[in-house]
Amino acid sequence: MALYEFDGKRPLVPADSFVHPTAALIGDIRLGHQCWVAPGVTIRAEFGPVEIGDCSNIQDNSIIHVNPDASVTIAENVIVAHCVILHDVNIKTRCIIGMGSILMFNVVCEEDVIVAAGSVVPKNMIIPAGKIVSGYPAKIIGDVSEKQKLMAREGVDVYRDLCRKYLTTMKAVG
Ligand SMILES: CC(C)(COP(=O)(O)OP(=O)(O)OC[C@H]1O[C@@H](n2cnc3c(N)ncnc32)[C@H](O)[C@@H]1OP(=O)(O)O)[C@@H](O)C(=O)NCCC(=O)NCCS
Repeated sequence: MALYEFDGKRPLVPADSFVHPTAALIGDIRLGHQCWVAPGVTIRAEFGPVEIGDCSNIQDNSIIHVNPDASVTIAENVIVAHCVILHDVNIKTRCIIGMGSILMFNVVCEEDVIVAAGSVVPKNMIIPAGKIVSGYPAKIIGDVSEKQKLMAREGVDVYRDLCRKYLTTMKAVG
């Protein structure tokens, strides 16, 4: 794992979470249990804390950063898909942050939100629970259906299993 202490603070990663060796976690980061952090992820917490709840996954090449006097909170059972940028955000439980989306400063996603792939969520936007947002700038386009909520749960389960498998079977071979 590429975990780096910075200014006296170091990432805390429990033994049952997986962080790929090519991910870089720097500074004041606390990861929950059974989290999965993909190749190429960067989490830089030099100026403020990043907290990620149990069973959340951060997928390939996503970037999380914190400004001075700010923080990032990602609750449990959250899916952060590939190539997402998160800055000073508060993401509550069971959200899906779609591929390639950007969440600007102080965005709040309440529970069960879906951010559509490729969206840019403007600073200070508070997305109410159970809403889908989409576009640039992102706007609310509808409600998350029960089927989508089920898919979100299944997605979290898949990544929790993946976490176990990575911890027990992944090895560098070349
Ligand atoms: C937004 C989203 C939830 C809509 O899914 P859906 O309800 O199945 O909707 P559909 O694919 O049937 O598309 C419905 C409409 O939304 C549009 N749409 C779909 N995804 C969109 C997106 N990311 N941005 C803008 N518009 C989008 C479609 O073009 C379609 O428009 P139309 O009605 O004018 O034809 C889904 O496309 C999405 O982005 N999910 C996130 C996926 C993701 O990144 N998951 C994590 C994987 S690791």
